Amino acid sequence: MKTIKFDYSNALLVNKKEVTSLNSKLIAIEKSIKNKTGAGNDFLGWVELPETMTSKKINEIAGLANDIRTKADAFVSIGIGGSYLGAKAVIEALCGAFNTFKIKPQIFFAGNNISGRYMTELLEILKTRKQIYVNVISKSGTTTEPAIAFRILKNLLNEKYKKNAGKYIIATTDKAKGALRKMAEAGKWTSFEIPDDVGGRFSVLTAVGLLPIAVAGADIKKLMQGAKDMKKILDNAKNAENNIAMQYAAVRYLMYSKHKKNIELLVNYNPELHYISEWWKQLYGESEGKQGKSLFPASCDFTTDLHSMGQWIQDGVRNIFETTLEIENTGCNIQIPKEENDLDELNYIAGKKIDFVNSKAMQGTIEAHISGKAPNIKITLPKLDEYYLGQLLYFFERGCAISGYLLNVNPFDQPGVEAYKKNMFRLLGKK
Ligand code: PA5
Repeated sequence: MKTIKFDYSNALLVNKKEVTSLNSKLIAIEKSIKNKTGAGNDFLGWVELPETMTSKKINEIAGLANDIRTKADAFVSIGIGGSYLGAKAVIEALCGAFNTFKIKPQIFFAGNNISGRYMTELLEILKTRKQIYVNVISKSGTTTEPAIAFRILKNLLNEKYKKNAGKYIIATTDKAKGALRKMAEAGKWTSFEIPDDVGGRFSVLTAVGLLPIAVAGADIKKLMQGAKDMKKILDNAKNAENNIAMQYAAVRYLMYSKHKKNIELLVNYNPELHYISEWWKQLYGESEGKQGKSLFPASCDFTTDLHSMGQWIQDGVRNIFETTLEIENTGCNIQIPKEENDLDELNYIAGKKIDFVNSKAMQGTIEAHISGKAPNIKITLPKLDEYYLGQLLYFFERGCAISGYLLNVNPFDQPGVEAYKKNMFRLLGKK
């Protein structure tokens, strides 16, 4: 079985000795995750999802997705934060920057902002579509952004389908509590449950992520198999010598607490990975940014951002380390053409694959950033498909829990998110 690889040989400040010196702490943390004894232990349901999402549950989601795929030309996924980022990340990674527009149905995301222009333009596009399905995803059921979007899109469905509108709504929400559950029951909509013990940002491997991903045409069984295999690998690797989630968490912790790095920059060389970084930022930012502690999770898309942020990364404040996401085999064969006059001086690489050049850009950048005292760690996917994405998602989740516990925070709550909401509600005159 091939797996994603984790390499911290270029981490400079952090070496194997330092990482393994944390072994007893890491082993105790893993035990507390397994036995559910740490802070936030009522939100550890995601650990077992690769097993608790049984074939029956996966088939149910895949079956509905197939049905929607035969009927719909537009599928709107409404949700914010953990209720959309995982699906968006996997769909973009698999479908690429342009393919999103070729797949049928086209997948739209709504309810992740409160922009009037975004909604106006979305409605304009949807009015040109024949069959529209709406998947409203909210664990609480009352989050402002998706609730606003859902009201508006429900109106669109009511105008279009009249009394049959409910047939085109799928609700993914809490099993018993919350406004959305009540609405789903009243409207007799198809619905899926978000388990009580799975928080939003850890929910990509539930119907929250799996339904939109399957509607986009991806094989969710393969995705779950990847997560399952990664779980097995991590469960069997008992210490930081060989457990890559422990290694990642330990490197992050040492960079922050010992070597005064306070920014981790996740970088990719493939634009379709942009939203993997967005998902990762929420996972680590919301899980760890507490009590005045933690690394700031930032991201860049290379080589694009080397032409905007490259100077800062090479030469700015030395408070960063870089985590490179690499795809070993992209399977793309497009080559650089030869030109007689060679005015742009590219003939020295004529005949080479673009992705070969990209890999050299990556190698050269890592060397440059290391020499500029920005340590590098690397995560490599053998290729970009459902299986390895499943491995990657689970690896990051497990690494996040360990990392949060190393910092001594509860990785599963998000009390700070309420502050803006309180002010917004006051300004809007909410009673
Ligand atoms: O990780 C989290 O819990 C949050 O990002 C939530 O997913 C996000 O706020 C959306 O919440 P809800 O699903 O309740 O609408």
